[in-house]
Amino acid sequence: MNLLRFDSEDAWVNGACALWTDRLRHNPRLKLCLPTGLTPTAIYGEMVRRVGAGLASFAEASIFALDEFGGLSAGSPGLTRNTLRRQLIDEIDLPLNAFHWLEVGTEDVDRTCERYDAAMADGLDLVLLGIGPNGHLGMNEPGTPADSRTRRVDLHESTIHGSARYFPELLPHQLPRWGITVGLEAILASKEVWLLATGSAKAPIVQRAFLGEVTPDIPASLLQRHGNCSVFVDAEAGALL
Ligand code: PGA
Repeated sequence: MNLLRFDSEDAWVNGACALWTDRLRHNPRLKLCLPTGLTPTAIYGEMVRRVGAGLASFAEASIFALDEFGGLSAGSPGLTRNTLRRQLIDEIDLPLNAFHWLEVGTEDVDRTCERYDAAMADGLDLVLLGIGPNGHLGMNEPGTPADSRTRRVDLHESTIHGSARYFPELLPHQLPRWGITVGLEAILASKEVWLLATGSAKAPIVQRAFLGEVTPDIPASLLQRHGNCSVFVDAEAGALL
């Protein structure tokens, strides 16, 4: 595991984007899996700027959404696919058919998941991840086995309440209680994984995940066994490392 520590959030954003630009240059056909959440927002903004300035290109890349919330209308702004489109996809030169997202509204969710795994079957090059306060990755909550596939999952109560940040228009009882997530198997099989964390609230879970025991009870700890995982922290999130 590589620990990349930055003094400020600006340095963290620029550090991640410089490496991301580098990966795209070396492999223009980069196959990415991307999260939403508050953590990557500034990174996506900076990548949009870089593409606009001609410094980076996604013209031959492909992007898979990491997860999706269930039970909401397709237009809900907080859905992963809508957030990713707004913050990144619609602002860069990625062909629209190179953006893959999880359709939660279908009757046959299992088939949707099988198709998604099949589309990723030749392997991801780079997965970006946030980390939940309970150590979840995407919607892979504590207890998820390392060989889990893309599937429908029930969200933990803390994750449901935490998602209120993404759905300011919803009342607490309207928040999504389930979702579909890429499983840990595809994440752990990716050639490279970046775990992104900023702010003091993330410091305790970052410490447990990367200095503590490797256990499915903290899905992020499984990344300790990945041969090419980098943990990007600002000074606050990395304060206990
Ligand atoms: P955040 O969410 O980026 O909004 O903090 C991370 C997560 O819960 O996975």
